[in-house]
This record gives sequence, structure tokens and C-alpha cells, in this order.
Amino acid sequence: MTDETGPAGDTTGEGELLVLDDLKVHFPIKRGLLLDRTVGHVYAVDGVSLRVGRGETYGLVGESGCGKTTLGRALLRLVEPTGGTITFDDTDLSSLKGEALRTMRKRMQMVFQDPLSSLDPRQSVESLLVEGMRAHGLDTDPEKTRKRLTELLSAVGLPLNSLRKYPHEFSGGQRQRIGIARALALEPDLIVADEPVSALDVSVQAQVINLLEELQQEFGLTYVVIAHDLAVVRHISDRIGVMYLGALVEESDADSLYDEPLHPYTKALLSAIPVPDPVVEDSREQILLTGDLPSPSDPPSGCRFHTRCPWRQETLCDTDRPELRDMGGGRRVACHYAEDILAGRLAPRTQSPVSPAPA
Ligand SMILES: Nc1ncnc2c1ncn2[C@@H]1O[C@H](COP(=O)(O)OP(=O)(O)OP(=O)(O)O)[C@@H](O)[C@H]1O
Ligand code: SF4
Ligand SMILES: [Mg+2]
Repeated sequence: MTDETGPAGDTTGEGELLVLDDLKVHFPIKRGLLLDRTVGHVYAVDGVSLRVGRGETYGLVGESGCGKTTLGRALLRLVEPTGGTITFDDTDLSSLKGEALRTMRKRMQMVFQDPLSSLDPRQSVESLLVEGMRAHGLDTDPEKTRKRLTELLSAVGLPLNSLRKYPHEFSGGQRQRIGIARALALEPDLIVADEPVSALDVSVQAQVINLLEELQQEFGLTYVVIAHDLAVVRHISDRIGVMYLGALVEESDADSLYDEPLHPYTKALLSAIPVPDPVVEDSREQILLTGDLPSPSDPPSGCRFHTRCPWRQETLCDTDRPELRDMGGGRRVACHYAEDILAGRLAPRTQSPVSPAPA
């Protein structure tokens, strides 16, 4: 996490490392015996524009299925975008092929949710760490490789004798440390961490988050941290983007987002997080979302959130898709009525204080 937050997307004053412009990933839905007919599309990512500054941590949150993983994979070009552009360190990734793409990919690594399934159980830790280095010609000198492996283990807080062990011999938290060491082995500039702690015990989650923060300081890393849980990304993120059905609905610095969420969906997500203080917990508003998450293959017209939004209005909401617009202070929101909601001129339809738990 950076100490100073400047203009959106430029927290260090050294410019942006990653710029997404109208990024789209639409998966075709195939039917027919030979799966030769496209009968529709899953609009997994549908027009996302965002900027991540060097050394910044950008948190990406939203419900399951809203497109977070697809976005993360697309920005490393592990899945081909349907439209839009990805610019990494001033280079348009869509123009890269072959060796140039491979070299660029080395600078962008991914840490996965479930280290057990992302680490080959038949490979020792040494082999797992050397594999990526070898693919990029970084293990030519055995002495240097040995030194590098020692540095990596020490950086992620694992003992040196881990090298000969296999993933199943470690706890969940330690396995995630191996996953992080594997990403670090290639000396990346950007790490996309997809739900890096959701598979871990709550007691271990903070340790892994702290480790990510320490490594960021030490190696000057830029992070995109994906989570479905706003509580997880709060402390690590400089800025947070909230996704709903393939699009960003709000983007803000972390503190403002928590203190004063602007979009009704963000309000609902935050109101679902329990507050430790029982007095505050009993008296605060709870925004209840009605209805299920619509299918990304058939998103609602107009504002995609209108089918569940307690503030929905008769005009615009069902018909016009709101742009992600600038609200000042580096904040962006995609809601036609954000100003009226913020000023309290509009009230939610269903709003009730959280009832105290029965004695
Ligand atoms: N390869 C694919 N082919 C077709 N549809 C896909 C593919 N990958 C993802 N999807 C669909 O795209 C949508 C977004 O999926 P994605 O995994 O990106 O969501 P997510 O936000 O990461 O969810 P979760 O929190 O559960 O990990 C989902 O409806 C999913 O079923
Ligand atoms: S545009 Fe309308 S439906 Fe969408 S979030 Fe705003 S008030 Fe709700
Ligand atoms: Mg996911």
C-alpha cells in the first residue's frame, strides 16, 4: 500500500503501470451437436476502464460470478479480450505476440485462491520455484539459482528445508507462501492476486495479507487484489473498484468507499459486513438486496443493478445504462441518482434497522 494517494491511478507520481480501456470478455454460448452454433454470450467483463499506478494496490470486489477472475486473467492475456485495450507499462498488450508477449508476461504474475490446486502435488517446492525461472532462462547458473531460492524462501518466511518438501506437507497458509514465492521468482512488476486468502483460516488470512504488504514495500510491487469480501481488501488497498455483472459500479480510495459508499450496491455490500461494536451494529441501517444476481448472459437493461436496487427510480434506471462518472476527489460512480442519494433526497424503498439478536 502506498503512503500517499495522489490523483486516481497515480499514487506514486511515477505514472500508471496498467491501464484498461473499455475491456470486454464475452464468452460464446455454443449449442448443437458439434457445438457449432453460437446462441448467446456470457458478458463476463463488459466495458471496464481503470488505471493502476505504480506501487499501488487496487482492490477489486464483487459477488461471485461478477467477472473478477475473468478480468484478472484477461489483463495478463491468459484469456483473450473480446474488445478494449490493456496497456502495461505504456505497451499495448493486444499488439504483442510470441516472445514479446512472453517477456511481458514475466513481469505480470498471478497468485491463485487455492494453492493446493494451483501447485502440482508431484513437484517439490524447489522444482515448483525453478520451473518458472527456467521457462524464462533465469536458472542458467546453479549457484545463482540456489541463492535466489534461498532469498525467495526467506522473503516469504519459509524455512530453507522447504525446498525438498511437497505441497501437501505444508499448511494452507504456508502453501499460499509458496504460491507467492513462485510469483516473485520472476521478479514481476505486477501481481494479480485472485482471492489470495479466501481459502485460508481467518487467523492465517491477516498473516498472508501482511506478507503481501511487506513484499510490496521490499520489491516495489504493484498489486491487483481480487476478493468477494470487502473486509479483506480494505486494509491492503489504496483504491477499490466494485464490480457488478461485468462492470465497475464504483471506484474510490479505500477509506472514502467505506466511510461514504456512493453506489447503492456498495452500500448493500458494506451493510452486510458485521460491525464489532454492538451498539453501532444494532442501530445501523441494513440495505437488503432483493432478488438473485441476474445471469451475465442476460443482463438487465439500463442500469444492471436496477432489478435489485432499493433506490430505483421510474425514469432512466430501467432504460439507460449509467456511465462510470467522476464525482470529484478521485471517486467514480455508475448511478444516475448518486448525488440525490448522497444528499438524502431519495430514500431506499426497504430500509430497516438491524434487529438485535434474540436473547
Ligand atoms: N471459460 C468460460 N466460458 C464461459 N463462461 C465463463 C468462462 N469463465 C467464466 N465464465 C462465466 O463468466 C462469469 C464470470 O466468471 P468469473 O469466474 O470471472 O467470476 P468471479 O467474479 O471471479 O466469481 P467468483 O467470485 O465465484 O470467483 C460467470 O458467469 C462464469 O460462469
Ligand atoms: S441508476 Fe438507478 S437502479 Fe442503478 S444504482 Fe442508481 S438508483 Fe439504483
Ligand atoms: Mg473468481
